[in-house]
Amino acid sequence: MTNLAIIGTQWGDEGKGKVVDLLGEGADLIVRFQGGNNAGHTLVIDGQSYALHTIPSGVLRPGKVSVVASGVVVDPEDLIREIMGLSARGVAIGPESLKISEKAHMIMPYHRLLDAARENDPSGQKLGTTGRGIGPAYEDKAARTGLRLGDLRSPEVLAKRIAVALREKNCLFEGLYGVPTLKAEDVLKRALSWRERILPYVVDTARLLQDAQAQGKNVLFEGAQGVQLDIDHGTYPYVTSSNPTTGAVSVGTGLPPKALENVLGLVKAYVSRVGEGPFPTELIDAAGDEIREKGHEFGTTTGRPRRCGWLDAVVVKAAAALCGVGQMAVTKLDVLSGLGELKIASHYELDGERIDFLPAELAELSRCRPVYRTSPGFEGDVGQARRLEDLPKGARAYLDLMEELIGLPAALISVGAEREETIVLHRYF
Ligand code: IMP
Repeated sequence: MTNLAIIGTQWGDEGKGKVVDLLGEGADLIVRFQGGNNAGHTLVIDGQSYALHTIPSGVLRPGKVSVVASGVVVDPEDLIREIMGLSARGVAIGPESLKISEKAHMIMPYHRLLDAARENDPSGQKLGTTGRGIGPAYEDKAARTGLRLGDLRSPEVLAKRIAVALREKNCLFEGLYGVPTLKAEDVLKRALSWRERILPYVVDTARLLQDAQAQGKNVLFEGAQGVQLDIDHGTYPYVTSSNPTTGAVSVGTGLPPKALENVLGLVKAYVSRVGEGPFPTELIDAAGDEIREKGHEFGTTTGRPRRCGWLDAVVVKAAAALCGVGQMAVTKLDVLSGLGELKIASHYELDGERIDFLPAELAELSRCRPVYRTSPGFEGDVGQARRLEDLPKGARAYLDLMEELIGLPAALISVGAEREETIVLHRYF
């Protein structure tokens, strides 16, 4: 058995979908272990674009088993839409190819409502969430008032737990946010309507994965979001509610930590961030606009324009240290073509001192000034490159600078959205 985790080293949207799809060719199982449908992976296959939110990117490869493990929060209505949308486009999905954990928590209609009410509250804290109810669902999980997919098996359990959850939620809706309350019987009716479409996929994924490991199967763990959105290690409070760091592979699947062998860190050739929060190398100028347009940096899940900036080696090195990243997959190199001189932050200056880490205090982080190394840049279409030698000199110089400042070798380099538009330097499976 070989296994590999693919994680985003920045603020998400590093282009995981394509890399997971590509490396998934050699994997038997492709597993999501955290996050929910706040993730949005876009894949382009034979000119067709697919946007996935909950289902692992491996679903587009026939013969693979896609697993949504217990660490994920699942919105059943969105999942049903995703399954139906993919099926309508000829992607075969059935209980043999998609396995969802009975222990995964459900995102309920009141979670979405609460997420939106908080974001729209003028006196509250605006985080710029995806509005999918992710935070409130994880909150209920920790509060022990959540509902798990396995609860769909019992209408009585559903009724009881929905009633308990709504007691508090309705107080907030009515008393604090001034939005309409929800009736328990309406929510129950909706939940009952999910049973037929969802239950065939619901199994004990921890045992499934433990068995797969015992049988020597190849497993690919597909991270969602990015390390700087990690609730423990990211730029708190501007983070998501789960752990995109590799520690969550074990907790979120039920496999022991030592089961994880390889970690590939996704490094977009520049940085983007969606939502609020610190971003030291952000470009609030024409260069940032140009990267956004050329890189199509608009949210897959929300359509929001992403904030763009130069690559930050401090951020990627932090991710490597937190997650045990062995190699990097460089994505979207093609976007930098024609931009002129390119920059990578090697470290920060904070109050006149050199530092090479992200301070935990947001006030300190906001005073960090990135110090850049430059690279001459490159021109032309690099999408045809399949070997390093096919790249223009300037592109190779940029990659060399990345490797020098980050201290990791590249395992693959993506030069376009299509599967084929990739320079593969190392194969895991
Ligand atoms: P939430 O995960 O919807 O609660 O949003 C919390 C923060 O994480 C917001 O800044 C979101 O924009 C960001 N976020 C959540 N999921 C993703 C993702 O898949 N890519 C990029 N940013 C994300």
